[in-house]
Amino acid sequence: MGQGPLTTEAGAPVADNQNSETAGVGGPGLVQDQLLHEKLAHFNRERIPERVVHARGAGAYGTFTVTADVTRYTRAAFLSEVGKQTETFLRFSTVAGSLGSADAVRDLRGFAVKFYTEDGNYDLVGNNTPVFFIKDAIKFPDFIHTQKRDPYTGSREADNVWDFWSLSPESTHQVTWLFGDRGIPASYRHMDGFGTHAFQWNNEAGEVFWVKYRFKTDQGIRCLTQADADRLAGADPDSHQRDLREALERGEYPAWTLCVQIMPAAEAPDYRFNPFDVTKVWPHADYPLIEIGRLELNRNPDNIFAEVEQSIFTPAHFVPGIGPSPDKMLQGRLFAYGDAHRYRAGINADNLPVNRPHATEARTHSRDGLLYDGRHRGAKNYEPNSFGGPSQTDRPLWQPTTVSGTTGRHEAPSHGDDDDFVQAGNLYRLISDGEKDRLIQNLAGSISQVSRDDIIERAINNFRQADGTFGERLEAAVKALRG
Ligand code: HEM
Repeated sequence: MGQGPLTTEAGAPVADNQNSETAGVGGPGLVQDQLLHEKLAHFNRERIPERVVHARGAGAYGTFTVTADVTRYTRAAFLSEVGKQTETFLRFSTVAGSLGSADAVRDLRGFAVKFYTEDGNYDLVGNNTPVFFIKDAIKFPDFIHTQKRDPYTGSREADNVWDFWSLSPESTHQVTWLFGDRGIPASYRHMDGFGTHAFQWNNEAGEVFWVKYRFKTDQGIRCLTQADADRLAGADPDSHQRDLREALERGEYPAWTLCVQIMPAAEAPDYRFNPFDVTKVWPHADYPLIEIGRLELNRNPDNIFAEVEQSIFTPAHFVPGIGPSPDKMLQGRLFAYGDAHRYRAGINADNLPVNRPHATEARTHSRDGLLYDGRHRGAKNYEPNSFGGPSQTDRPLWQPTTVSGTTGRHEAPSHGDDDDFVQAGNLYRLISDGEKDRLIQNLAGSISQVSRDDIIERAINNFRQADGTFGERLEAAVKALRG
């Protein structure tokens, strides 16, 4: 902000910013008090709708550096050369809490990365977990309703949460993960990030690969116990946001190593389970992690509202060489985010400094709408035109895929091992004895708050199907708590 006197929005100098204008000393206010009206009206409009999920978050800018040659898998320009750097913006978040909620809670964390590439912005809108609770976008609003406040009680209800999870056995893997140690990261710096879905990579020759992304934290994984988190959430609700900002202010730049798992397209149809099922991981034994880059965060935003609250990320922001997979969750997300942005931040939010391309410019024929800034000046707003306007490239960003069959509300294609419980059981057997104990206690603490026995039994039964001992121990722990 420049020097000089305080002004109105229109730039006129303000003589008195302490007293509103009245008819005489002690008299009523005056309609001509433009300053008072302007201040109150602007204040009334300070909030925009919060994100319907992931409302609570923190962001920072950074740099992505390519560390391995991946040109035989993708023609994405920002990945074209070892050493190449791309500016990024990353927003971390919790999922279920509203804007003012505490950071140190048991919840997934959002890990949304915007790469400002020379071919436009590429958004990887992931979480800190490799899987998700459900596998079809049509269940997402129902799922989130159970995570948010109940319409009658106005509180978050264990009954709703466990009713939904117990009736959605595909959630067992993600729920086992969530109630384990990684369910409460100690900070945003001390957790991994995942693209979670499979995405398409395609190379110059037009070959297709399915790819999963994982950002491994260079700070090491650190988690909070439930008891520590409960204390911290009360003492410092902004703990994660503060930790990130202060680390950057100290010049301690957090970094993540980006790895990918790559499945040649020909292997997908006969893979032992549906590779586009977001409730499952691809075992590293089948598809090893390949290190390809480094992401460092090194700059705090100057203004939280402008750059974090108004930032918009969508899985539909692809660049040449990268595209969607047929994952039914991802397909739904490709619609949901743009729609949310248009409602929440407006039709011209793409042009805000944090959202617009930084390494190229957007050249569209779209015009006008709320807060349009006239950036196209007098250019023609249609195509084709004979005035030298931008025109189509005739080269799609991703390769077409072959489909066949009849339309319908189909479940995803079945593969041999599509079981909902195997990977949850594997996860349970993989973790240490100490973590097993904490997992059982955390689950029992939550399940024991459910009011109905049938929901409790159904919930425990899902874990029993994942692993017999897991189920037995959980049943005993819930009984002990319910008396
Ligand atoms: C935010 C929808 C699944 C990660 C959002 C928002 C919507 C949404 C509407 C708010 C967007 C905004 O207002 O800017 C959905 C739907 C899903 C789904 C319909 C399933 C069909 C997922 C999954 C992940 C994920 C599987 C991670 C792998 C995120 C993240 C944000 C977000 C990180 C916050 C982005 C930011 O920081 O602005 N989601 N979501 N979501 N979602 Fe999802």
